Amino acid sequence: MLDEMNDDQKDLAQVVRLALAEQTEDVRLFVARLVRKYRNSNPELAEQLNLFLRSKQSRTATPLRKALNTTTTEPILPVDDESRLSLLKVFKDPIDRESPLLSADLEESLQQLIQERKQAKKLAALGLHPTRSAIFVGQPGVGKTLTARWLAAQLGVPLYVLDLTAVMSSLLGRSGSNLRAALDFAKRHPCVLLLDEIDAIAKRRSDESDVGELKRLVTVILQEVDEWPPEGLLFAATNHAELIDPALWRRFDLIVEFKLPEMPLVKDAIQRFLGPDYSVFGHWIDILTFAFNGESFSNIERSIQRFRRALALGTASDAELIENLIKSRVFVLEHQARVYLAVLLTKQTHLTQHAISDITGVSRDTIRKYSRAKKGKRRLKNEPD
Ligand SMILES: Nc1ncnc2c1ncn2[C@@H]1O[C@H](COP(=O)(O)OP(=O)(O)O)[C@@H](O)[C@H]1O
Ligand SMILES: [Mg+2]
Repeated sequence: MLDEMNDDQKDLAQVVRLALAEQTEDVRLFVARLVRKYRNSNPELAEQLNLFLRSKQSRTATPLRKALNTTTTEPILPVDDESRLSLLKVFKDPIDRESPLLSADLEESLQQLIQERKQAKKLAALGLHPTRSAIFVGQPGVGKTLTARWLAAQLGVPLYVLDLTAVMSSLLGRSGSNLRAALDFAKRHPCVLLLDEIDAIAKRRSDESDVGELKRLVTVILQEVDEWPPEGLLFAATNHAELIDPALWRRFDLIVEFKLPEMPLVKDAIQRFLGPDYSVFGHWIDILTFAFNGESFSNIERSIQRFRRALALGTASDAELIENLIKSRVFVLEHQARVYLAVLLTKQTHLTQHAISDITGVSRDTIRKYSRAKKGKRRLKNEPD
């Protein structure tokens, strides 16, 4: 649904979502972004939003809250000078936080990263230091941010996230000082720092103005990656590997590639996201796995959550939900995959051949032919085990 909305509608929806979740600080952060976004195209709106922002002081900036803060050991987070919004998002998760679903290679390389930290002394005795920096690459919704959170929890430190898209949308002079403030803060506190959407800098670099300042920003990051203290851990994440400056790329100790999940992981994901409703949808698992193949974890999660809500409210039956899902997915499948799906439906459901033909767009003749064929005779591409 979000795909069909225009930009303004998406912004509106986002404000409503944050407001209803009472994430006041996030509402402020988002409105500050809108102010920057509309500064040129709609100055009056930007001005009005800015007034709202200023008339309603940030809760964290009130003296009372400040006074309370001093009684705890919580470090005071750096803020943007103009908006007074926090530059860093903080995540503090317990060590037993559920681990992300990871492919075997990914799991292995992350386990090594954790072990390097836990056995830093052993490494030091050999004149080695643990991995200090890593860049996470992969499409949206594959677990880059989630994994950073999980790793920080494993290491017993908070994760601080600096969203570079937000930093880059501030006025350029401030982008630089905001970036430095965030980096300095992270170096002074035990933590994992994640520079999220680091390609935002590259994107901004392509527009001609302020080239000098942008170059300086990139230089700051290059130096920081080089000199990041071995006690700290610096992650960067990007959905656009191709936009990353090769000079920056080279500097990270580790490149971690997040891929779309393969079938067995898709299956695990469906199972995890269904939670207790697995008892209802469990017998559809092969069909669901096939239908969600090629999707990101977050897309799978979103669809499954929608299923669960519909089921809870009784607005649709599980069969109807699955049918609609397949109808919406078949058009991206190749003919062979559609045939496979049709056969799966024949074997695992009580749907009539007519209905299956209708849903998958495969003729009844073809369905009949393949349903009779012995399994293993004609294995199809992407066929699950
Ligand atoms: N590997 C994964 N294992 C389990 N859930 C995942 C995974 N990847 C994504 N998700 C789900 O999708 C959401 C968004 O993932 P996120 O880590 O923010 O993606 P990215 O940073 O790669 O865009 C997560 O909060 C989680 O609910
Ligand atoms: Mg992310």
